[in-house]
Amino acid sequence: GLIRHLGVSNATAKQVAEARSIAPIVCVQNMYNLAHRHDDDLIDELAEQGIAYVPFFPLGGFSTLQSSALTAVATRLDATPMSVALAWLLQRSPNILLIPGTSSVAHLRENAVGAELPLSDDDLAELDKIGR
Ligand SMILES: NC(=O)c1ccc[n+]([C@@H]2O[C@H](COP(=O)([O-])OP(=O)(O)OC[C@H]3O[C@@H](n4cnc5c(N)ncnc54)[C@H](OP(=O)(O)O)[C@@H]3O)[C@@H](O)[C@H]2O)c1
Repeated sequence: GLIRHLGVSNATAKQVAEARSIAPIVCVQNMYNLAHRHDDDLIDELAEQGIAYVPFFPLGGFSTLQSSALTAVATRLDATPMSVALAWLLQRSPNILLIPGTSSVAHLRENAVGAELPLSDDDLAELDKIGR
């Protein structure tokens, strides 16, 4: 009775299914961002089942995301590449929750802009090409 909600991390789709056969799982935390799209199918599957997906390294982790397409979209929107990368994640699927890390208040403010940044279909199509 001590654990209300259970999540798994660094889990393959098969491991998530195995965990769910043992107990209800409310979230999955795996590496995922604009450039690392291995979990695309898993995210869609979890969204259908009402399970949250919490991407770690949403900005790329130790080496932050760098891409000419990302910079181009950010310039067009008068935003920063990192806020666009976070906006893309939020628009990728309704079950995505973000945990971007920073030690800087300036970066925190910049990253928060991503929550309010609408991306057009053209922006999304351009960004989609980065990880495909
Ligand atoms: N479950 C797991 O196995 C696992 C593995 C790794 C991480 N995590 C968790 O996932 C979360 C996110 O991971 P993370 O923080 O390592 O990865 P991240 O959010 O992708 O990247 C953090 C890095 O991005 C930089 N950064 C943040 N905002 C920026 C901005 N606006 N412009 C430029 N650089 C920026 C940070 O440097 P500054 O400090 O200079 O801003 C830091 O070096 C954390 O809570 C972490 O504990 C979980």
